[in-house]
Amino acid sequence: MKLRKSLFAGLLTLASTAFLAGTALAADPYPNKPITLVVPFSAGGPTDAVARLIAVPMGKELGQTVIVENTVGAGGTIAATRVARSAPDGYTIFIHHMGMATAPALYKKLNFDPMKDFEYIGQVVDVPMVLLGRKNFPPKDFKELEVYIKANKDKVTLANAGPGAVSQLCGLLFMSREGVELTTVPYKGTGPALTDLLGGQVDLLCDQTTQTVPYIKDGLVKAYGVTTPKRLPALPNIPTLDEQGLKGFEVKVWHGMYVSKGTPPAVVAKINKALNVALNDPEVKARLAESNIEIVPPAKRTPNGLKEHLEAEINKWGPVIRKAGAYAD
Ligand code: MLT
Repeated sequence: MKLRKSLFAGLLTLASTAFLAGTALAADPYPNKPITLVVPFSAGGPTDAVARLIAVPMGKELGQTVIVENTVGAGGTIAATRVARSAPDGYTIFIHHMGMATAPALYKKLNFDPMKDFEYIGQVVDVPMVLLGRKNFPPKDFKELEVYIKANKDKVTLANAGPGAVSQLCGLLFMSREGVELTTVPYKGTGPALTDLLGGQVDLLCDQTTQTVPYIKDGLVKAYGVTTPKRLPALPNIPTLDEQGLKGFEVKVWHGMYVSKGTPPAVVAKINKALNVALNDPEVKARLAESNIEIVPPAKRTPNGLKEHLEAEINKWGPVIRKAGAYAD
């Protein structure tokens, strides 16, 4: 009798454990805990600002908090390695710009492969850039700037966010078009670089419009030209670099969202839906428009839209960088 009783109790425990496990599985769909959104540059910079803006509506759609984490250094490659090695469960999402496409050529030793180690969520936004000077920098306009940097090339400092950053790419393009080599000052993101430009510690910075439009409008920095073929609606009085003589000077910064390879398609689809919901949010749209940030068309906000674009960009930048021998390591 005693034996039968304990057998019954044992079976009951087993059955209830199985039931509880089954319930837990059924009530355990993705996501059931906070999600990390990894940003490869400093807090307060343009990538960080876009990430923080969309993290809230994405979290609302997913029913979990999306926490932004800044993993900085080496042009975003430290963050990319971190995400490539993360568990393929959708709890570590990555946002990065076109540095994802330039890294394979810029770095001789890279610990991840952009085309093999990730699942693609979708493209996010395209951001124009603007060549800025500190408020008290002597040249009043672009023509004066060209003369000034040639006469003072040993003194002029140009900030950037380190090797592989778009601010570096834009600066390199500018120096090569002007035929000058200025002293470059690397930071871990253009957030701190812009702070130093505002404080007058550096002379020039080519930055995205994300954080810079209000400072330009308030006259706290000088804007010498935008990097798009046409003037920007948010900055109609700032001429393009192209119209001021640097014909064909164009840099537009595209951004993509990734998770590690092997993340289940259903999880990728949920994150993609959340990204699209966030980019359709009226408040997000208004904030992005203020900075002249373009939300990419729906067809690009898809896993294939990002994968195809990334591949094309790797093929575009690889030969250019290799030919220039411009290695970051
Ligand atoms: C940043 O978020 O700090 C920038 O995207 C860095 C850069 O690439 O210039």
